[in-house]
Amino acid sequence: MLTAEENAQLTRVGPGTLMGDLMRHYWIPVVQSSELIAGGRPKRVRLLGEDLVAFRDPGGRAGLVSEFCAHRRASLYFARNEERGLRCVYHGWQYGPGGRCVDMPNERPESNFQDKVTLTVQVLAGLQLPPGARGRRGPGAHLVPARHPGYA
Ligand code: FES
Repeated sequence: MLTAEENAQLTRVGPGTLMGDLMRHYWIPVVQSSELIAGGRPKRVRLLGEDLVAFRDPGGRAGLVSEFCAHRRASLYFARNEERGLRCVYHGWQYGPGGRCVDMPNERPESNFQDKVTLTVQVLAGLQLPPGARGRRGPGAHLVPARHPGYA
């Protein structure tokens, strides 16, 4: 019989947990590519204890990022899906499919503060597509999480 501590070690999968760290070394199907419409509404995903949103920008790039804006944690589920990524509806910060901030309309034009902001994501995203499927919405394409070197 497992102790309470052993049970917790085997069942907790959030960031920084034993099983969470193990699971983040594997590819896991998350959403069918066909569910992500270019320029459409983001889709909420809860995976390994993390709240994420999956989306496809109008240019066809798919992303899986933290649901919550790095500024004041507004939900990006309600974000506008624009050409370069999701724009938070609260103060307008915009995030590309990789989670990097690409626009801060409330910063001076010469500011580089946006270059220092990335959504905090412990599980993030690779996009696995069958050969020739890049940019099209097909039933064989899956968005899958993987440990990404840019996201510890
Ligand atoms: S909360 Fe998202 S830009 Fe301020």
